[in-house]
Amino acid sequence: MAYENIIAEKKGGVGLITLNRPQALNALCAALIDELAHALDDFEADDDIGAIVVTGSEKAFAAGADIKEMKDRTYMDVYGQDFITKGWGRLATTRKPTIAAVSGFALGGGCELAMMCDMIIASESAKFGQPEITIGTIPGSGGTQRLTRFVGKSLSMYMNLTGEFIDADTALRSGLVAKVLPNAEMLDEALRIGAKIAGMSRPITMMCKEAVNRAYETSLAEGVLFERRVFHSTFSTEDQKEGMNAFAEKRKPSWKHR
Ligand code: CAA
Repeated sequence: MAYENIIAEKKGGVGLITLNRPQALNALCAALIDELAHALDDFEADDDIGAIVVTGSEKAFAAGADIKEMKDRTYMDVYGQDFITKGWGRLATTRKPTIAAVSGFALGGGCELAMMCDMIIASESAKFGQPEITIGTIPGSGGTQRLTRFVGKSLSMYMNLTGEFIDADTALRSGLVAKVLPNAEMLDEALRIGAKIAGMSRPITMMCKEAVNRAYETSLAEGVLFERRVFHSTFSTEDQKEGMNAFAEKRKPSWKHR
């Protein structure tokens, strides 16, 4: 499929998706979301790909849902189509690990898209915000929910109720992002992390991701039980044998499933 709003390319074992609608600061129009979902399907099905990085431009990761596209919709339009579910959630349901590499604005749906990834790597220029309140609406794709779980109630309320942005440092301190780097180094670092993950055993990384995500969906006791059961099941894989034998034999593991 030829894309008009994104660029999808392989960087070794990493699938790199670049949001590419510079004239609108990567505002997430329906066509872009469709293309993103399509590229994610392709990378998920591609055995060569072990991790996926989603990035934007230096000025904007994404400035949110496309306001001009949605502004005249009626309640029945958005309710009837369950607007913002179709396509948008695809990033949150990938089984392979995902990294958002964020420079510039990550606002509204852009911040929500970044939060659907497994981790966010940011550059010093990154700005995160949920400014929907300033245009007479509220977040529609996790901005009141994921953000609150990641940064806590007070900072989430501040961002959601004022629409003010936070900088990369604040995002780092609050746990929204994993790392902050100079602009010129950020994407390389995200790709390095992606390549490192892609170099691990594929089923074990997927199981690990499932276990971490469980922490957001269940009680601590249930989550720890789920983790233990998945831990047990790793012992049925060839890669657990290979990984532990390689350690004992002082050599690098050669994973069966990559
Ligand atoms: N939708 C549509 N177009 C957008 C856009 C958006 N979210 N964000 C920026 N653009 C367009 C602008 O309209 C402008 O287009 P024109 O040149 O045709 O006028 C172009 O991108 C450049 O933007 P600006 O001139 O505004 O650039 P700036 O540097 O002065 O400001 C900005 C940057 C602060 C990000 C500002 O563009 C802005 O506030 N954007 C909207 C942010 C926002 O409210 N996002 C939330 C959207 S709602 C949502 O996402 C709902 C949800 O939960 C899913």
